[in-house]
Amino acid sequence: MTNPRVAVIPVAGKGTRWMPVTRNVPKELLPVWRRTSASYAFEEAVNAGFEEIILVISPEKHDVLDHFMRFDSSDLGPQYAGESLSELHHRVKVRACIQETPRGLGDAILCAEQDVAGRPFGVLLPDEVLMTNGIAMLDPHTPSVLLMEVPFSQRSNYGIVKGEMVDGAFIINDLVEKPEPALAPSSLAVTGRYTFTPEIFDYLRTQQPGKGGEIQLTDAMRRYTQAHPIHGFIYRDVRYDAGQPLGLLTASVDFALRDKSYGSEVRQMILTLLDQHKPSETE
Ligand code: G1P
Repeated sequence: MTNPRVAVIPVAGKGTRWMPVTRNVPKELLPVWRRTSASYAFEEAVNAGFEEIILVISPEKHDVLDHFMRFDSSDLGPQYAGESLSELHHRVKVRACIQETPRGLGDAILCAEQDVAGRPFGVLLPDEVLMTNGIAMLDPHTPSVLLMEVPFSQRSNYGIVKGEMVDGAFIINDLVEKPEPALAPSSLAVTGRYTFTPEIFDYLRTQQPGKGGEIQLTDAMRRYTQAHPIHGFIYRDVRYDAGQPLGLLTASVDFALRDKSYGSEVRQMILTLLDQHKPSETE
């Protein structure tokens, strides 16, 4: 029997962009339309065939663990509608590891080392809500990362990579975490979906703090690429950053418009609002 495939979903972030809401409510439990924002990444992992999901939580994020420990088919797509809770929970195991202090994404992933237990693994950052399954586009056996083209001004919001085509594969040879736009090595940004082999932990363990004084996954990946290849795959479908207010709102509206039961009402509601908020002739 093969080992269950394992995905890590870090949910330990403080959610500073969402204060004051995140004083009491973890940002991962804010709704994107009728589901929690993090359930989209959770569903993506399950749809891609991951059978074990490790949530990296902070000590005060037990609500997120509780939410996903008791997940049911309403956290997943319609194809799971007929599946009973016990079938689902038999198929997908959820567990958590605790990141005691917020020391960055790289440190959060390192917390999962013991639970990953020497297997290749996927990482999904749940702020990213993708319309097409991004983690399924990656190579499960070779370290790889999902990329997207971003406008010049947004380069400083992401890990930016540079790479070249080698024998039909896009191989990354440079990564910089949130560079000044003019200093970025390209316009290709890391989209929050990764696959790794356990060797990445050797690099994370020895990684010095980088941008913002945090242990950056991007920096460990950069060192890793000096000895091993990381493949890049370009994502071109719709994607939202639900970690910030406008992204979450837009994602909600998009999913609401796609909802078979509510779509036409939502469309009418938007048209009515637009009519009420027409810019005046003099503006
Ligand atoms: C993290 C990563 C960054 C990546 C981004 C994708 O940044 O550090 O490299 O491009 O996720 O969402 P964060 O947005 O968590 O600050």
